[in-house]
Amino acid sequence: MVEHFITTVLIVFLIHATCFHLFTAKSVPIDDRHRSKQYLGSTLAESVQIDEAMTHLKELERIAMANNGNRAAGTTGFNQTLDYLVKYLSTHTNFKITKTDFHVRDSKLKYDPVLLSSIDGTITNHTYSKDYSEAEFFRVRYSKSANFSSFIPVTVIPNSGCFEADWIQANPPISGHVALVKRGACTFIEQSTLAAKFNGAALLLYNDGTSPNHMLPMVVDMAQSYAIPALSLSYDLGERLANAARNPWKMVGVRITNILLNEESFAVGNICVDTPTGDPTQTIVVGSHSDSVYSGPGINDDGSGSAANLAWTVALARLFQTSTYAKYKYRLRFCWWGAEENGILGSKYHVAQAKQSTVVGERLIDYVAYLNFDMIGSTNFQFATYDGRTANNDTLPSAIVGSYKISQAFRDWFIQQNLPWDFVEFGYGSDYAPFLIEGVPVGGLYSGSDDIRTQEECDRYNQLLGPDHCTVANVEHDPCYHEDCDTVENINVFAYDKMIKAAASTIENLARQPDLKSWLYSST
Ligand SMILES: *[C@@H]1O[C@H](CO)[C@@H](O)[C@H](O)[C@H]1NC(C)=O
Ligand SMILES: *[C@@H]1O[C@H](CO)[C@@H](O)[C@H](O)[C@H]1NC(C)=O
Ligand SMILES: *[C@@H]1O[C@H](CO)[C@@H](O)[C@H](O)[C@H]1NC(C)=O
Ligand SMILES: *[C@@H]1O[C@H](CO)[C@@H](O)[C@H](O)[C@H]1NC(C)=O
Repeated sequence: MVEHFITTVLIVFLIHATCFHLFTAKSVPIDDRHRSKQYLGSTLAESVQIDEAMTHLKELERIAMANNGNRAAGTTGFNQTLDYLVKYLSTHTNFKITKTDFHVRDSKLKYDPVLLSSIDGTITNHTYSKDYSEAEFFRVRYSKSANFSSFIPVTVIPNSGCFEADWIQANPPISGHVALVKRGACTFIEQSTLAAKFNGAALLLYNDGTSPNHMLPMVVDMAQSYAIPALSLSYDLGERLANAARNPWKMVGVRITNILLNEESFAVGNICVDTPTGDPTQTIVVGSHSDSVYSGPGINDDGSGSAANLAWTVALARLFQTSTYAKYKYRLRFCWWGAEENGILGSKYHVAQAKQSTVVGERLIDYVAYLNFDMIGSTNFQFATYDGRTANNDTLPSAIVGSYKISQAFRDWFIQQNLPWDFVEFGYGSDYAPFLIEGVPVGGLYSGSDDIRTQEECDRYNQLLGPDHCTVANVEHDPCYHEDCDTVENINVFAYDKMIKAAASTIENLARQPDLKSWLYSST
């Protein structure tokens, strides 16, 4: 799961609390009480084996350890992950495999950025911090590098620079100057596109001070194609610079140093496999992400989803070989997205392509539902499923109805198995987001990341899982989230097994609906 995903380009985040690990993560063995023969209500769930998924996880960990400890997009560890998936799929299924490369830019900085201002010769070195709540200015994702050798004059853009006229009016003219732009009634992407179009040397965006939570520097994501350097400033700093720069008698300039680790774009792959049978104009897409963060091997995030996805695909291929298991009416497409941790880039790319496609089976309208599995083996797990009702209020109503129907299907499995469950809100922080935004009903499972397992949750889970299940509350669901300890040891095998079965059963449930669209849009 991507840590700080920005949907509306701007979100002011809560201060990220430092994590204290109250205890060491350990593998939890499968509880025999729950292993005892239970009616899973699903042939696919019976067929898929936890051991297969664990074997894949060990292989993903081995790949990470042989490649600087991670499998992040753009690294050899990532490429070897894709090689493993493709090889396993091609030797264990007869499904059609497609690998699609797309290009992304990284936005990791080599050093902390520096912003110096000069007002009538008085030079100030402004405060930067990785915690934007302690900073006068903050980095902007997908900014270009800057290494100014001298102070560059500042031009204040009137009216927040939402319209071309604002940039044409700006005095002194913007070309070759640094544009100082207040947060306005348009997106940062719209402001920054104009800044680049009018040849600004850089863009300084500042908060508007209209409320107490509009004072700090903003968290800003530019588009991948963004072309000039940019920084985000607090309201106070922005106002100080703007007041000085509006005074024709003052000399105001800035020097910016903002050096990216890697300025070049690089190729990242998405992998999808399709069942050879089933109606391609009614496709159910099942997805997980193949990349890890740089800071760890990513075995729960999202090795757990990726390995499970591989296990479901192969189990289904096995069943389709038998004459007793009827083929599905619908086509299934299993996908592994790349560069999720860089801002959900693989699934965004896929959805954008599907939106443009006119090829039958490749169009967005051919997608009936999307199921997402990102983090499903967390040490201090919750059995959570996305609550379709929490989709943004501008979501297509049918997508909200369909998503809630999927939520209920997952929930009902846990209830039927006498297991505890939770609903979790859509935070738009994983690969379901681009599908949901375009009106595809989505759902999925999530066992928790750096969010906290509360006492209430502990008590509720203990009721069904036994008093030994949860002995410590107020700990993170995944104490190794985005850390180097996100290894196979970090997987709760009991929970992972249940999640794999819950997903397999729900995938089959959807795929066996006589009329999936009617089922999705019928309310209960
Ligand atoms: C990873 O594979 C892509 C092709 O998909 C290639 O362009 C890139 O150079 C490879 N990266 C590394 C680090 O091997
Ligand atoms: C500004 O501050 C940064 C961080 O403290 C420091 O690395 C840099 O050298 C300073 N630059 C100048 C010109 O004072
Ligand atoms: C930035 O420019 C200075 C010269 O002004 C140069 O010495 C320095 O190496 C450059 N830094 C980077 C990281 O390119
Ligand atoms: C939709 O949500 C936005 C942001 O949360 C809110 O400002 C707006 O009032 C909501 N609109 C409706 C019609 O509920």
